[in-house]
Amino acid sequence: MELKQTYAEEIALELNGLVELDEIVNLIEQPKFDTQGDLAFPCFILAKALKKSPVEIAKELAQAISHPYFEKVVAEGPYVNCFYDKLDVSLMVMKEILHKQENYGSSELGQTKTVTLDFSSPNIAKPFSMGHLRSTVIGNSLANISEKCGYKTVRINHLGDWGTQFGKLITAYKLWGNEQQVKEAPISELLKLYVKFHDEAEKNAELANEARLWFKKLEDGNEEAQHLWKWFRDESLQEFAKIYQLLDVEFDSYDGEAFYNDKMDEVVELLVEKHLLIQSEGADVVDLSDYSLPPLLIRKSDGATLYGTRDLAAALFRKRSYQFDQSFYVVGQEQTLHFKQLFLVLEKMGYEWPKDMVHVPFGFILKDGKKMSTRKGGVILLEQVIKEAIALAENNIAEKNPALPDKEEVAKMVGVGAIIFHDLKNDRQSNIEFSLSDMLKFEGATGPYVQYTHARARSILSKSAIDLTLLNPAGLNDPYSWPIIKRLLAFPEVVIKSFDYAEPSQIAKYLISLAQEFNTYYAHVKILSEDIGLEGRVALVQSVAIVLAEGLKLLGIKAPERM
Ligand code: ARG
Repeated sequence: MELKQTYAEEIALELNGLVELDEIVNLIEQPKFDTQGDLAFPCFILAKALKKSPVEIAKELAQAISHPYFEKVVAEGPYVNCFYDKLDVSLMVMKEILHKQENYGSSELGQTKTVTLDFSSPNIAKPFSMGHLRSTVIGNSLANISEKCGYKTVRINHLGDWGTQFGKLITAYKLWGNEQQVKEAPISELLKLYVKFHDEAEKNAELANEARLWFKKLEDGNEEAQHLWKWFRDESLQEFAKIYQLLDVEFDSYDGEAFYNDKMDEVVELLVEKHLLIQSEGADVVDLSDYSLPPLLIRKSDGATLYGTRDLAAALFRKRSYQFDQSFYVVGQEQTLHFKQLFLVLEKMGYEWPKDMVHVPFGFILKDGKKMSTRKGGVILLEQVIKEAIALAENNIAEKNPALPDKEEVAKMVGVGAIIFHDLKNDRQSNIEFSLSDMLKFEGATGPYVQYTHARARSILSKSAIDLTLLNPAGLNDPYSWPIIKRLLAFPEVVIKSFDYAEPSQIAKYLISLAQEFNTYYAHVKILSEDIGLEGRVALVQSVAIVLAEGLKLLGIKAPERM
């Protein structure tokens, strides 16, 4: 399959060890225009050793290289350009896809290696925000992509279930809370209590002190505090579970901030031992002024720990427990400073593995150009938003295909798929405008468009009962199939690139272009005519269906057979 590799090997053979194979692979480019061929090898680096001009070398190499997959090899200035043999290459790609099925594009890149992915990580007693939605969708897709690249993955939900806010919440609950109301609508009730606390605390300074005391009690294991905390946590988790179920996302670990409660003494001891802990304004901090960064706060004057302390403990724990080779934190760009500080402190502690830790930031979700918040103006719960998308998808289906069986199931796949695709189709750092009606469109760069294209391919296949064991390339010499073949050929590389850049958008964009090529093909070619080309065309449709479904799966989106 690796045509680039094949080309590099042919060149290496001619160059007789003058340049390493890997270097040749790296040098090979994709020509700007299709008319210049499929791969180009620049000869500049050879000039000195061969004492000839790059143009001359290109001419000689072009003449010497021949291979069944290459229709022709020509010199263009200092470049050696090769043109694929369309039929042979088409046959080869389709055979590989039909043979490997959903494993097409899988690689051994991460063999025996482990990656941990910290994503979603919502905060207990607070609504699941748009930022958490982005983290969930991006993190889940990155985990899928990592697995496709052969890595063992650990999906970690670092719940925000500890911190001074629980002192505030307990104080507020004890003053104004009502058990029944919290049970009925946990997140919004707890949020109300939290907001009320802040309002009242402005008038009454004593409240802040009380909250601090309650958090201290919680950290010291006070029974009442622990009991309330556990209850708030359980209620919140049940609410979050509904969202994860809708999105079909699972975790290997829910070890959140509280889990590190008994693991922070060690961190503090290590910092003391390494002379990194200093006093500043009554608190214990690690100084980072040598990096021109503010210090990382470790312990408040009353001994209470902080977000960063828990992240330090979590990093140590994860390295020991999972032996990660890479550790991703999929968290909004507003925490960039925090992760810089975290990684630097670990480095200062003398570990060499912080170099394997990566913060994967992302932009905001906007509504009419403004940052969208699930908090302001009463609580718009995310679950509601997802359900609305599903309901809209159901309307669309009722209009377009009223006879469809399992309408509800398909509407869920389409509604949820639309939200996920809309999130993943742009570079993750860009902000995205939230519009349910836009993301549910069947045309344009949307999830439903890709899903619909896949269903279209499946429906063609359901009408042909042809056996695809011995492939006949006849039927692939129309001008519309070659662009598809080239896209199919690129899939494995796109998967690796999406891993390297931690960019699921690479796959989303790829799927749009494959779907577009396929729809052009569909509009121009009579796929099911009974002639000698039938087998080749059906094999092409089948290959497209396999790759579309697999690409969607990597994004965390289902591909319905019909819609
Ligand atoms: N709970 C945090 C928040 O909502 C995100 C946690 C991210 N993960 C971490 N290890 N700090 O902002």
